[in-house]
Amino acid sequence: MKYIDLRSDTVTKPTQEMRDAMYIAPVGDDVFSDDETMNALEDLVAKTLGKEAGVFVPSGTFSNQLSLFTHCNQGDEVIVDQDAHIVQHESGASPVISSVQLFTLESNHGIWDLNKLERVIKKRTLSTTETRLVCVENAYNGSVLPLDYMERVFTLAKRHGLAVHLDGARIFNAATALGVEVSEIAQYADTVSVCLSKALGAPAGTVLVGPKDFIDKARMKRKIMGGGMRQVGILAAAAKISVEVMSKRLGIDHDNAIYMEALLREIPGIKIDEHQRDINMVFFDIDDERKYKLHEFLFDNGVKILEYEGIFRFVTHYDIDREDIKKAIDLVKRYFS
Ligand SMILES: Cc1ncc(COP(=O)(O)O)c(C=O)c1O
Repeated sequence: MKYIDLRSDTVTKPTQEMRDAMYIAPVGDDVFSDDETMNALEDLVAKTLGKEAGVFVPSGTFSNQLSLFTHCNQGDEVIVDQDAHIVQHESGASPVISSVQLFTLESNHGIWDLNKLERVIKKRTLSTTETRLVCVENAYNGSVLPLDYMERVFTLAKRHGLAVHLDGARIFNAATALGVEVSEIAQYADTVSVCLSKALGAPAGTVLVGPKDFIDKARMKRKIMGGGMRQVGILAAAAKISVEVMSKRLGIDHDNAIYMEALLREIPGIKIDEHQRDINMVFFDIDDERKYKLHEFLFDNGVKILEYEGIFRFVTHYDIDREDIKKAIDLVKRYFS
């Protein structure tokens, strides 16, 4: 059975164009920097983001953690949002890999009170560690942080001599929603992690971009983490199409999410999370005990969703069209009727 999969945009399959490009891609040994397709991809992503250099890694988690590992020394402190992917969904990697202390600062839907941010920045004393890095995420779950906010965080961090890392797993979605180039967002971070395998459809891969000396150091640390790969031009060939082609069509997913939201709103008692309606995701809740079993009912009827976890999240993407959305939401309506 072909399932309608609303769990995430990570489920997208490589397009035929990607598969064709992978088949013919010239490759080499990337650990020797000999893979011309990969070298070109790293340059392309760096240039697109307005940075000097980039390094390809297997996943968004790897990239974020490599960034922390490269920016920080043992015992340094990193400030992150309390709901950031780095602290909530990366298997507790930061203290394991980088031996850093994560300071989680509460935000209002991804927006910090900047006075609070300034107050928690630490200088090294006998009893305090030193803050080294501030991490932001944009898009932040389903919401997009405005450029002026990004700028204010960056300016504040620089005033205190701190680096800023941006988890831009969905930075192309954020740029689409803001109607700006990704480089306009990336200018407010020293390093950016850019996932190519989510809404952009590549089979795997994330590029960490930043200043050349930082990326040279990150390349060494990538090897320590076991991330030195060989003929990865195969993956780079698909990822190039992600950047050049797939990034231009994300508005369709965003419009489809608006369509999905409108259909969901027809269900009595549904509560759409308005704060998270900027990209290809619709978060919602419903005051109905049957919600805990919705995933089972949908699965039995050809639709995959994530289990209810305090909220539902339905995601649109390249492999979902309006007909799929209508079919899925009609089932949700039937279930709750
Ligand atoms: C904001 C954000 N950062 C990082 C990641 C990690 O990416 P990966 O699953 O490739 O490790 C994700 C994954 O969905 C994410 O949503």
